[in-house]
Amino acid sequence: MCGIVGYVGPSADTKALDVVMEGLARLEYRGYDSAGVALVAGGQVETEKRAGKLVNLQEALAAHAPAPAATAIGHTRWATHGGPTDGNAHPHRGGPEGKLAVVHNGIIENFHALKNELLAEGVTFTSETDTEVAAQLLGREMEATGDLTEAMRAVVNRLEGAFTLLAVHADAPDRIVAARRNSPLVVGLGDGENFLGSDVAAFIGYTRHALELDQDQIVTITPTSHEVINFDGTPAEGKAYEVTWDAAAAEKGGYATFMEKEIHDQPHAVGDTLLGRTDETGRLVLDELRISEEQLSAVDRIYVVACGTAAYAGMTAKYAIEHWTRIPVEVSLAHEFRYCDPIVDDRTLVVSISQSGETMDTLMAVKHARSLGALTISICNTHGSTIPRESDAVLYTHAGPEIAVASTKAFVAQITACYVLGLYLAQLRGETYADDAKAVMAELQQMPAKIEELLGSMDRVKEIARFMADTRSVLFLGRNVGYPIAMEGALKLKELAYIHAEGFAAGELKHGPIALIDAGQPVFIVVPGPDTPHDLHKKVVSNIQEIRARGARTIVIAEQGDEDVVPFADEVIRVPRSSPLLQPLLTVVPLQVFALHLSTAKGLDVDQPRNLAKSVTVE
Ligand code: G6P
Repeated sequence: MCGIVGYVGPSADTKALDVVMEGLARLEYRGYDSAGVALVAGGQVETEKRAGKLVNLQEALAAHAPAPAATAIGHTRWATHGGPTDGNAHPHRGGPEGKLAVVHNGIIENFHALKNELLAEGVTFTSETDTEVAAQLLGREMEATGDLTEAMRAVVNRLEGAFTLLAVHADAPDRIVAARRNSPLVVGLGDGENFLGSDVAAFIGYTRHALELDQDQIVTITPTSHEVINFDGTPAEGKAYEVTWDAAAAEKGGYATFMEKEIHDQPHAVGDTLLGRTDETGRLVLDELRISEEQLSAVDRIYVVACGTAAYAGMTAKYAIEHWTRIPVEVSLAHEFRYCDPIVDDRTLVVSISQSGETMDTLMAVKHARSLGALTISICNTHGSTIPRESDAVLYTHAGPEIAVASTKAFVAQITACYVLGLYLAQLRGETYADDAKAVMAELQQMPAKIEELLGSMDRVKEIARFMADTRSVLFLGRNVGYPIAMEGALKLKELAYIHAEGFAAGELKHGPIALIDAGQPVFIVVPGPDTPHDLHKKVVSNIQEIRARGARTIVIAEQGDEDVVPFADEVIRVPRSSPLLQPLLTVVPLQVFALHLSTAKGLDVDQPRNLAKSVTVE
């Protein structure tokens, strides 16, 4: 997830740089590991780009002022392919003399194949990004056709994956051509000037007239025109609308808080984390891993180390990884792992999970594991952060920056990445479940749509949260993969609403926690799907009966069509059906929404709860 902005004004107008820099400042929430601009003036394209926050780019531009320009594009990056360096920052150049510049948001899945093709033809690359492949292809097409829009059309039809691309060319100084597939792009319509942005925040300081584009469309803007076509070349029209949000709401996609926005980003977080992980035959390929297949095949024990929500992602993944690989997986809180004298050798794989890549406890656990000879893989959301650097290999989640302190979209992306890793290990070992990998990947591909559907049916959850604003204690029960989800539900409520909350394994109820149940005690129960092996569904339904009989108010999260829960539920929250191991990607959603709305009902600061930090960089 990156931020992109574009501006074209009248040729006498030289404010392009200011407009684009202002847009980038408003889009920094979409990515902030590097930034850059390209300006078209005097028959040339000038670029400036810097790793790090936008301020680094501002300083570079102040030290070396570019020629005034009426056309510019800009980019604020959240790295996916290639670390956050000056060289990997956008824009990227293409064509002879680098006359073309491109900024890109998304992931081009087939970039390896395209890059190899270009390398074989003698093209040299200056970055590790997938974007530069698009820039080189566009530069060549522009040479061939002399028409930037036609060049874009030729190139996008060769690209797979998700992308928004903005291109400018020295020979076409009054225009920007942009294309989108599964990544965001809006047009801002001004008076004698036009804008492009990842979202309306990019240009809200200048115009409130916007144009929405469909998937697989190309738009060409000049100061006085905008023209939309489909990837097949047929003419199209965008949908015009008026932006009613203020600038602060625009950054949050119109939601009241970053957390609410990030909950709604979850379909993308899962979908993007799956992008580019399989080859054309459906086999999993994890190029980023950098550990040899021999070493990975020899692994006989896995530790997952993490803290907070990331640790619950690890606990959820344990069930799937053990099932698919038959390798024992132990999940350990990073701070406990570090000082518990863990049994680790060179056949142990230590998988750390961290959104920030900076959590000190997790970092210390990784360093300790390496010192004991273990192989270390980091599952991380932040390129260039410390934990991936200190690990043998990394598997990035592609959730985009998470701003709210309480983790939501990073959690579902972490679970998704763990599944990908588990399936990859199963494939390497040739275990029985390797055959199922394709089927599981196919089902995972459906998860973004299911999460979207679920997010559209949360009205009752929000109501329940509002009614419960005075509640002092809430319990959460789950079994199997539902157990860590119950704990995550409780954690969300503690973090956001400062309410006493606990998550238990439903089977453990009778061994103690049932003593907590008395009249009116609210209890959320995450119910496994009816097809879950070992009659777990039936067993959890019995648990619901037991607590209901003791006066609990039962709020049941169950799959669509599961009627067995109805007689014992005060409330039923439905989730789409899925296979048992993938269910956590769905069941966690109502729990996040519940905590968010209960916190809001109490008038609390959702994005920055008291006493908490997004990234805990001390032990
Ligand atoms: C802090 C945050 C949590 C997060 C945990 C781990 O406690 O408040 O939301 O789950 O750190 O963070 P990490 O960046 O390592 O995933």
